[in-house]
Amino acid sequence: MTSPGQPAKQGPRSLDPHVRRYAARTAGMTASEIRALFAVASRPEVVSLAGGMPHLAALPLDGLAREVGEMMATDGLVALQYGSAHGLPELREQICDVMALEGINAHPDDVVVTVGSQMGLDMVTRIFVDPGDVVLAEGPSYVGALGSFAAYQAQVVHVAMDAHGLVPEALREALAAVERSGRRVKFLYTIPNFHNPAGVTLAVNRRAEVLEICRQAGVLVVEDNPYGLLGFDGQTYPALRSTDPDNVVYLGSFSKTFAPGLRVGWVLAPHAVREKLVLAAESATLCPPTLNQMIVSRYLSTHDWKGQIKIYREAYRERRDAAISALEQHMPEGCSWNRPDGGFYVWLTVPEGIDTKAMLPRAVTQRVAYASGTGFYADRLGSRQLRISYCYPTPERIREGIRRLANVLEDEAQLHATFGPTTSREVGGPQSPSPDTA
Ligand SMILES: Cc1ncc(COP(=O)(O)O)c(C=O)c1O
Repeated sequence: MTSPGQPAKQGPRSLDPHVRRYAARTAGMTASEIRALFAVASRPEVVSLAGGMPHLAALPLDGLAREVGEMMATDGLVALQYGSAHGLPELREQICDVMALEGINAHPDDVVVTVGSQMGLDMVTRIFVDPGDVVLAEGPSYVGALGSFAAYQAQVVHVAMDAHGLVPEALREALAAVERSGRRVKFLYTIPNFHNPAGVTLAVNRRAEVLEICRQAGVLVVEDNPYGLLGFDGQTYPALRSTDPDNVVYLGSFSKTFAPGLRVGWVLAPHAVREKLVLAAESATLCPPTLNQMIVSRYLSTHDWKGQIKIYREAYRERRDAAISALEQHMPEGCSWNRPDGGFYVWLTVPEGIDTKAMLPRAVTQRVAYASGTGFYADRLGSRQLRISYCYPTPERIREGIRRLANVLEDEAQLHATFGPTTSREVGGPQSPSPDTA
């Protein structure tokens, strides 16, 4: 018994009663490690290479403000009203035009507008996954997807990638291994273009093979493609969905090509799946925000949105170049990285014995932040990797951040040489993205 003034005993019995009431699925919900450091990492003196935040300073804000003002004056009563769970019809038509750029020939009826593609991921997982079902995902994979899979108690089995994306042979092996273990694969989750976090793109000559393997195994493909239009040379790749409309659920987003704060994304589903998705969307949000959909729709019809994507691509290419030249100049022996052709991310492997999660607080003290590799795996791999996002800081800040990171790695290597490997005590696992790590 504790008398007044004495601290309560620690242990499961002393937990807040709410904690004991939580559903079993909440065990898989944990915050990303950068969130714990967020207050420090977001100080202006820290160069954050952790976040996936787009370079919004490139947007024509004055023109947008005028358009939104006019729209409220003329259509405010519609913009502020409930809408359909399916999404605005004119926006769904425009989304079809956007997808046509990657070879997709879709009907607007099969598009469901979502609150960002994160909601699409949640809905797709909700309607397909029972606890214990297997989801195949590249290793590493997008933190937010792993968070959704964990929340629905899916078991994630990672499939290896190389410089050309997902390895078809590894996919065959993963499917066979899951079958031998008596479990059921529900879908393959893949980010074919300018991968988050690996930065690689699935080779065009692998795409048909990946689709064929999944089709033969009776496994659905969930294609997540927020970065497909951000190839630095303006190159696009044929979407998986373009050649296999019956077996691919496609997730799209305006977050990286326009603005993430609007939270407008979409799911293009095989016709038979569409209705369940609309019901799932309805139960989550009733309808996506009408105002935001109207802003996106108006932007697409009145602005040179392709020109804006070109402006973004150029800004990101300049930042990629700054990151790669700084890595070449400063990184110590034993580090390796890829050179992305589009998107936001470089995936860095550090010398053996260095644990990027254990190193993160020391890096933040040295005024640089990154996303450590373990968050991108469901099976605790990735301790020798980290993700550098070059999308948000200026090229000068990127160069400075990478110089600081190289110094931290040098210090860490010395510590390792003197005292042995540094490891993080906390174990990893699927995490929810913070806005700073998405
Ligand atoms: C691969 C991937 N999928 C989905 C998302 C979520 O995007 P949205 O803002 O559309 O929810 C992100 C965001 O970073 C991402 O990188």
